[in-house]
Amino acid sequence: MAGGALLVAIAVALHYSKGTGWNPTQDISQEVLEQRASTVAETDFPEPMNRSIGGGGVAAGAVAGGEGAELEEGEEGAAEEESGPWDVPDDEAEFFEVEYTKEGATIEVAENETVLEAGEDEGWDMPYACRQGQCVSCSGQITSGGNSEDYVVHDDQQMLDDGELGEGYTLTCVAYPKADFTIETGKAP
Ligand code: FES
Repeated sequence: MAGGALLVAIAVALHYSKGTGWNPTQDISQEVLEQRASTVAETDFPEPMNRSIGGGGVAAGAVAGGEGAELEEGEEGAAEEESGPWDVPDDEAEFFEVEYTKEGATIEVAENETVLEAGEDEGWDMPYACRQGQCVSCSGQITSGGNSEDYVVHDDQQMLDDGELGEGYTLTCVAYPKADFTIETGKAP
């Protein structure tokens, strides 16, 4: 302990006799601020007084970019969902004469209505299951001659191959008429 106290006493004596160069009244805050400022990235807009002008411009640009991105998404969405006769408004829809042989009647079917729905609207007991073109429960055969797709537009049917379509088969739940024809319902390939 005595040795330690002696060393402190020597240090204090040296400090007061020669000085350590430390000046407690020196203001280093400006220096510290400048050092900190040098580590922060420059901003693109004037500040702080007219931030609403420069900053506003940047913000508007950011918003415009956002809108652009939304538009692109919208376009993609539209591309994914195919349009077709099912989108035609009722008051603009064209009608076609469809003869249902089993039911023994010819009715007018709108281009925005499926062959299945039109039959159901007549009160007929039409066969169906998925109503999405993914089974063959609702299938029928168009007997007017030729490919069924000469007479109906299919909304994404996935069950009938080209040969079956060529023989006139159709899935009535996703079949929208585009010409007059005769169909035998409840007939699968
Ligand atoms: S009901 Fe399943 S394909 Fe038409």
